[in-house]
Amino acid sequence: MDHFEYRNGQLFAEDVAVADIAHAHGTPCYIYSRATLERHWHAFNDAFGTQPHLVCYAVKANSNIAILNLFARLGSGFDIVSGGELERVLRAGGDPDKVVFSGVGKKAVEIRHALEVGIRCFNVESEAELDRINAVAGEMGKVAPVSLRVNPDVDAQTHPYISTGLKENKFGIEIGRAEAVYLKAAAMPNLKVVGIDCHIGSQLLTLTPFMDALQRVLALAERLAEQGVQVHHLDIGGGLGVRYKHDQLAPSPADYMANLFTDERLRQYEIFVEPGRAIAANAGILVTEVEFLKMAEYKNFAVVDAAMNDLIRPALYSAWQEIIPVVPRSEGKTETYDVVGPVCETGDFLGKERDLNIQPGDLLAVRSSGAYGFTMASNYNTRPRALEVMVDGSAMHVIRQRETFEDLVRGEAILP
Ligand code: LLP
Repeated sequence: MDHFEYRNGQLFAEDVAVADIAHAHGTPCYIYSRATLERHWHAFNDAFGTQPHLVCYAVKANSNIAILNLFARLGSGFDIVSGGELERVLRAGGDPDKVVFSGVGKKAVEIRHALEVGIRCFNVESEAELDRINAVAGEMGKVAPVSLRVNPDVDAQTHPYISTGLKENKFGIEIGRAEAVYLKAAAMPNLKVVGIDCHIGSQLLTLTPFMDALQRVLALAERLAEQGVQVHHLDIGGGLGVRYKHDQLAPSPADYMANLFTDERLRQYEIFVEPGRAIAANAGILVTEVEFLKMAEYKNFAVVDAAMNDLIRPALYSAWQEIIPVVPRSEGKTETYDVVGPVCETGDFLGKERDLNIQPGDLLAVRSSGAYGFTMASNYNTRPRALEVMVDGSAMHVIRQRETFEDLVRGEAILP
């Protein structure tokens, strides 16, 4: 459920008319709903009941510090993948002791900073990385808390670009080798083994792959315990899918947890979860204005002022996101359009073959844009990144200004 709905013939974000935001601040703009973000976070947190757990919001999904701050206020943890994301979490008031650090290529300087501020755990993706963390911690006279990200070799049945738990993927340590690597880690002087981590992919719409992965992780935890390596937490990663299309069904966090906890062995561990999309996607829309309608022999195009640089998911993954009018017309003709941006690439589309009754100047909203929207935006074609607004009841707050040309050329220099 989200808080974007039609009232009196126009789209609202909570109690604010989307058209009012667009008129006040221009387009393209991202609009997020605080109530939706918080509702989705609570859905995860509440699904655990009394089970010790930590919801580590995956910062990459949407890293605006206003959003991170909302979660920090709720006591959230965070899953980060770079020193930059760590800075954002700290800037937003997040508790470093609730941060887990994932990612295959952590640099020594990032590891050092994470140790300085005292994060909860490094999710280690290779043996080489174990050595590096051990060395950096040693230089600092610290002990680094680690879990190994194991690759359970299960098929997440999602888009190949966002599937991460197969043995051919670059992520994690093959589960067959994990035991040996754990024993090695346990013997390293500057590391403390605290957990097992696993993330098999994103936009999963069935629970079976999660359960398959969990079974393998639980079996590993037991084998490790027999050898004297007792882990305290299991991190089951992110990946729960969302409904992009009306007819799509996505399991709720409550369904997800109920399914996992059918295995009672899980109860003895603190459980970490790293949701990104399931919290943020349907809490945001991208609003764009129709510039031109181009009616051609084979196709009609609606040229809008948002493009692949603002929202790359359709171009990159052939992702389908719903496109709806902000103020639906009661008269006029519905035509089938490809909704395209001004960027000079054939792949620059937000949606194909959409039935819309629109005219130039109309506003469209691309739904489900709260996750992997702004965070994947670029300045391609020297386009400033969009403004971001957070609606909170009847209030709207600009949480990021639109970039200016000066922002775009900052740091560039011509030869003397
Ligand atoms: N934890 C780790 C280690 C991850 O790699 C990811 C996402 C997450 C958690 C959060 O996954 P989520 O709950 O959001 O599925 N740009 C793509 C999605 C890439 C996901 C990358 N990793 C998209 O727009 O579909």
